[in-house]
Amino acid sequence: MDSGVKVFQIDCGGFDSNYSYIAVTGNSALIVDPCGDIKKSFAVLDKVHALKLEYILLTHGHHDHVTGVEEIKNRYGNDIQVAGHPLCRYPHSINLKDHEKLPFGTSYVECLYSPGHTEDSVIYKLAEADALFTGDTLFIDCCGYCKDSQMFNTMKNVIMPLEDSLIVYSGHNYVPFESLGNQKKTNIYLNASSLEVFRENLKSL
Ligand SMILES: [Fe+2]
Repeated sequence: MDSGVKVFQIDCGGFDSNYSYIAVTGNSALIVDPCGDIKKSFAVLDKVHALKLEYILLTHGHHDHVTGVEEIKNRYGNDIQVAGHPLCRYPHSINLKDHEKLPFGTSYVECLYSPGHTEDSVIYKLAEADALFTGDTLFIDCCGYCKDSQMFNTMKNVIMPLEDSLIVYSGHNYVPFESLGNQKKTNIYLNASSLEVFRENLKSL
């Protein structure tokens, strides 16, 4: 989709080849899971001259995904909104419900509740950029460690119905990114036909 929103994938190292993401539209920016070598995120924000960093979006509260939050706030101001699921234990100022939308530029970013890896896991859909930020829920051809029935439900009822054109941007650099349409064909954790099959697949995780 051709839009005014740009997405930057930041291979920021950290605990286990973590990714942060920065999305920019006009003078506004947001960052997903600021972590690892935060200077890499600073460099992107400097380069795009984002005048207002509006949101820090947390996919879940695991330590390796939030290590840069305080540094971002220190540099860009404590009034930046930190958003996450109500069950996220990392301090945040916006509690997001399932399907809640945050205004971003001329459009919005939507939160989709996706428990399984953790109780507080969410994914973020930035439709204008065809972007789906999946944290540790969905990796390319893999998924995060999880509670099996909860994760199976998330895969089947939350992620599978989404548009094929979305690009899956996950929380770790195992494979950088791919379209959700391709993942529906190749990712055995995403397309498992039953909970029994999903459980069997998890044995090779
Ligand atoms: Fe995690």
